Amino acid sequence: MSITTDADWWRSAVIYQVYPKSWADADGDGFGDIAGIRSRLAHLARLGVDAVWFSPWYTSPQADGGYDVADFRGIDPMFGDVADVEALVAEAHDLGIKVIVDIVPNHSSDQHVFFQEALASEPGSPAWQRYHCVRGSDDGASPPNDWRSAFGGSAWDPVLDASGQPSGWWYLHLFDSAQPDFNWDHPDVRADFEATLRFWFDRGIDGFRIDVATGLVKAPGYPTSGEGEGLHLTFGEILDFPQWDQPGVHEVWRQWRRVSNAYHPPRIFVGEVWVATDEALAAYIRPDELHTAFNFDYLKCRWDAGQMREVIDRSLHTSAMVGAPTTWVLENHDVPRVRTKYAVEAAGERMPQSNTAPVPGVAADDARGLARARAGLVFMLGLPGSAYLYQGQELGLEEVVDLPAATRQDPAFRRTRGAEGFRDGCRVPMPWTRRAPSFGFSPTGASWLPMPAHWGDLSVEAQTGDPESTLELTRRMLRLRRAEQALGDGDLHWISAPGDACLVLRRPADDEDPHVLVAMNLGDSPAFVGATEVLASSGAPPEPGDGGYWLAPDTAAWLR
Ligand code: NOJ
Repeated sequence: MSITTDADWWRSAVIYQVYPKSWADADGDGFGDIAGIRSRLAHLARLGVDAVWFSPWYTSPQADGGYDVADFRGIDPMFGDVADVEALVAEAHDLGIKVIVDIVPNHSSDQHVFFQEALASEPGSPAWQRYHCVRGSDDGASPPNDWRSAFGGSAWDPVLDASGQPSGWWYLHLFDSAQPDFNWDHPDVRADFEATLRFWFDRGIDGFRIDVATGLVKAPGYPTSGEGEGLHLTFGEILDFPQWDQPGVHEVWRQWRRVSNAYHPPRIFVGEVWVATDEALAAYIRPDELHTAFNFDYLKCRWDAGQMREVIDRSLHTSAMVGAPTTWVLENHDVPRVRTKYAVEAAGERMPQSNTAPVPGVAADDARGLARARAGLVFMLGLPGSAYLYQGQELGLEEVVDLPAATRQDPAFRRTRGAEGFRDGCRVPMPWTRRAPSFGFSPTGASWLPMPAHWGDLSVEAQTGDPESTLELTRRMLRLRRAEQALGDGDLHWISAPGDACLVLRRPADDEDPHVLVAMNLGDSPAFVGATEVLASSGAPPEPGDGGYWLAPDTAAWLR
């Protein structure tokens, strides 16, 4: 059965995230582009992924890596144009790969036509009503309330009058000042986004990844949040605040679902949903809302069997409440590379859960970090549901921790004067060949962020054909995942006991055959797994024993 021709493909899919600026550069300017992506699509086909998700490539001044969109129906010239996207979608489909693109409905760029119209008018005008423009406190001298930007500082910036003086009115931006938040109570905003959905669906896009899917609706009256000066929202720390997860947001998703369901086959949504409780998450993936949401609880797990098991059980329970599949993710463009995260943990340090804080300066245990990253990948691909890979995860790339401050683009780095905002470390361009300085990323050797000198050894070229490499491991696992009916969507049964340092689970949960045992040893000594056959392993092949196999520490395997 081909997963990609099934209308329910998204329940089992392996989805590869491309950060377009950093994947492949065709025109030699040091920034990735769509022509570059088209020239490298064969990599995804050979890897064996079901779908690709592109981070934003829309017209944008790039104040936040393209998550500041000036025109949702235009492509930034640095990446190409709409015709390039159409050609790319056709080529991906010919290869059996679905295409998901990012959409950023919470905010626009300050260069968006709606915001430019607002700036050209008086506060309180109809144009300003498409955003949140509010009279300040202290007779306009201070922001309307205490809400903080996720990138540091106040979430409010003053609206200036025609002479450049503060007008006493303020506009809301939960992220950078150059990313004003839309007012989703305004019919123009809703209508414009519906037009955008249809524009891209009509061009063959299979679905959208929805940025900040919890943020669109703000509590009426802009009540105080109590965040205080010292505390602001970082990825993964979104709690019960009046600017996030308000009930009204669900009506937006129900409307979007009606739009996507009108297509054949229906188009799909995956939401970026950081919320406080399982029930809150389940609400976003009810059958008439988003199809799936990222499982950030899993991404946040330490190398800890108890914690992972608990999160896996909770995740499955949460999605089962509403009949949705679970998703699994270890890396994306906002968090530290998993190899480095595990290396830091193996050296006894705590890793920041998002790239807001610098990676601790310890002598990280890189060999164990890589072994665990490989194990984590093998184990994740055996869990029920769909899974995400971030570009370069298939190569075992590390977080680049020593980027010069002058090269850093993360707006939070600037807003906090270098105290936070280290997301560039996972956005360094992909190495394709052994050839320095940019390892095949760009024909001129340019790259918008400097690439580590040893990345030629981690390149696609260097790893191809080496059976020990992380790339060939990923290719093998994706082939096997397709071939094994027990994997993808479905359920599991725990073989290992709670408290065991080696996690072992059976797919499917019942006694049906063929089955697969998915195991990962998070302990310090070899663990015995009862089985007759090893299908694949992330490291040294498990040693045969009496009625089973010994799985080494920091290793995962699929057995039967
Ligand atoms: C989440 C995106 O993943 C991140 O990269 C971006 O900065 C924020 N949303 C704001 O759009």
